[in-house]
Amino acid sequence: MQIAELPIPDEVKQIVLKSGISELYPPQEEAVLAGALEGKDLVLASPTASGKTLTAELCALKHIVERNGKALYLSPLRALANEKYEEFKKYRSIRKHNGRRVRIGISTGDFDSSDPWLERYDIIIATNEKADSLLRHRAKWIDEISLVIADEVHLLNDSERGPTLEVVLARLMQINPDIQILALSATIKNVEELADWLKAHYVATEWRPVKLNEGVLLQEEVQFKDGAAKKIDKRSRNPALNLALHIVKSGGQALVFASTRRNAVSLAKKAATDLGSILTKPTRRALLSLKERVLASGERTRISELLADLVIHGAAFHHAGLGGRHRKLLEDAFRKGEIKILTATPTLAFGVNLPARTVIIHDYRRYEVGYGYYPITVLEYKQMAGRAGRPKYDTVGEAILLAKTDDERDFLMESYILAEPERIWSKLAVERILRPHVLSTIAAQYAQTEQGVHDFFSKTFYAYQYDPNAIRVVISKILKFLHDEEMINVERDNIVPTKFGRRVSELYLDPVSAVIVRSGLRARAPMITDLSFFHMIAHTPDMYPKLRPYSSEIDQLSLFVDEHKEEFMFSPTSQLEDHLEFEEFLGEAKLSWVMQSWVEEATEDQMIEQFKVQPGDLYRLVDSAKWLLYASRELASLLKHKDLVPKLNILRERAAKGIKAELLQLARLEGIGRARARILFNSGLEGIKDLKTAPIERLVDLPLIGPKVAKKIKEQVGGFVKSEQWKKLGKDKAAKQQFLREHY
Ligand SMILES: Nc1ncnc2c1ncn2[C@@H]1O[C@H](COP(=O)(O)OP(=O)(O)OP(=O)(O)O)[C@@H](O)[C@H]1O
Ligand SMILES: [Mg+2]
Repeated sequence: MQIAELPIPDEVKQIVLKSGISELYPPQEEAVLAGALEGKDLVLASPTASGKTLTAELCALKHIVERNGKALYLSPLRALANEKYEEFKKYRSIRKHNGRRVRIGISTGDFDSSDPWLERYDIIIATNEKADSLLRHRAKWIDEISLVIADEVHLLNDSERGPTLEVVLARLMQINPDIQILALSATIKNVEELADWLKAHYVATEWRPVKLNEGVLLQEEVQFKDGAAKKIDKRSRNPALNLALHIVKSGGQALVFASTRRNAVSLAKKAATDLGSILTKPTRRALLSLKERVLASGERTRISELLADLVIHGAAFHHAGLGGRHRKLLEDAFRKGEIKILTATPTLAFGVNLPARTVIIHDYRRYEVGYGYYPITVLEYKQMAGRAGRPKYDTVGEAILLAKTDDERDFLMESYILAEPERIWSKLAVERILRPHVLSTIAAQYAQTEQGVHDFFSKTFYAYQYDPNAIRVVISKILKFLHDEEMINVERDNIVPTKFGRRVSELYLDPVSAVIVRSGLRARAPMITDLSFFHMIAHTPDMYPKLRPYSSEIDQLSLFVDEHKEEFMFSPTSQLEDHLEFEEFLGEAKLSWVMQSWVEEATEDQMIEQFKVQPGDLYRLVDSAKWLLYASRELASLLKHKDLVPKLNILRERAAKGIKAELLQLARLEGIGRARARILFNSGLEGIKDLKTAPIERLVDLPLIGPKVAKKIKEQVGGFVKSEQWKKLGKDKAAKQQFLREHY
């Protein structure tokens, strides 16, 4: 089916054609034939890279331009939401029937807002969590949404994040029974069931743009699904590496999935030693520049230095311990073909568009503390394998598993390559998971009675898959908890939220977290310090990621707890009473210590050294802490702990920036982070007043501050720069940059 023949607005056709697409892929054609463009509800289940996004784009644009509708695009991850936003932006020049241009908006942060400004947009891209929080705020414009696109909908199966998506979909259907649903999914076994729940049609295909050849590597031989076999050279003792090098030598790239960060790093190191001789000159040049960019983005740490050392050889590792900017640099360099071997943890497996000729699955097992090793699911395997084959570049993609014995090879062939992906199952009916959703149903007045609550949850995928009565019991238990904790009241037959309950729901808190914060604020520690608040939030289930004490840290952490026992709002269980709880407490203490060091301006490298907390983890902790300190402040103000409000305010800002209080004024300026603020402060420029009177040359003389930044500072503090001064600085700039390169 040609793009030119489709019943979509001409301007949309032009833009799609201009992007180099003139014909629909078969799954896209099937979706059109199933009525996706005519407003039919549809589940589209097809392999990775089969073009689900374009289907969604065409639906959304037709819907908006011709019917003046409003579309919501749900994405499971922030990074993915950003990617989609970039893709949708190309349609911004199109005019709707009313003459206005199509407006694309994105919203992924701040969970305590109804974002009224989003009303102006025709397509809103949001993460599932953000959409959930918008629903809790009853954002008015949500009622106007007439098309919802749910990306990666097989995520319903994920025990942590699936339930949010499930509730969001059920809620949108409750608000607007006529809403059009377009659900995009990987290939799963029970598409029909999923479609039936959504009252949608479905299209399920196995079609891929590049042929996929799956196989198992045993020593130096790959055995493929179709019976073919391939020998590779033995260059090192590691078969996976030999295979990766073989691919690179023949002009391809390899993506190697490892089970842990440590394995990913060590594989990348080994790859780097062998790759060097294979690289061409232009690639080497590109990699040198990549190295500079790796070092220049963010603080320098042993991790960024290691990464820099590896990328010049064309190898790199990609895992959640890296900061977002580093990850993006690596993804872009891999897409450009500069990095030849990228090792990654499974987090890379879904969503991000990062194809490679060959995908090597180094380990089909995962390890979880307290659980041991377990094999990954077929669904997970297919997601990783699906990354193989770059359209336009490769005619065939390869996905290779690793076996150590003949027996294991047969097992892998049967259990993954020849196996069907599993069914997906709703994970909603777990008390901890369901609790916030029950509260929000009442708090945002989606239900006013107990029966109303049950009615809503009887429309979820969980109720569809299991016996609806099974979920009733859990809900009743949760209602009792919410009532006991004064989040809801019962007035005759009606259930109404209390002020506290409503705020907890809006703040996107787990009710248990709110109870903990409330009792912390009430009980107070004998001595209230930064640590008291950090521990209060570390004690809540919403603090994420949790930190675990390493056994080598137990003594030191116990000592830390002992030294600071006056400052904790919750006292530790003793080791003798309950060993597990004690360890959990030490984990919380460690997290509080990490946050305290952060606001005392420890460097990122010190955090790695002292706590083994890597930048990516640190940023996630900081994100959680910002939100939980904000929520604590809101609750402190609601619950009349007026004296604590300013303390929490300041701590939140310090946590966001990683600074001592004395830097607050400086760090509020645009372009000034923790490093520059410290440099300014130590040079005697301690606040706005000093900056106002200081000559601009004095600023430019400081490390990390160039003429541009200096000018920006001056503009913000109300000073101005004379044009002759500016010219002079321009001349000095080159000299200064040279100086900085040599010294920093
Ligand atoms: N009809 C088409 N012709 C050529 N290229 C296409 C066509 N449709 C989509 N593509 C390209 O295919 C690539 C993959 O598409 P997309 O990201 O939508 O895959 P997906 O099905 O969403 O996969 P995933 O499971 O990874 O999310 C994109 O680069 C897109 O531009
Ligand atoms: Mg996709």
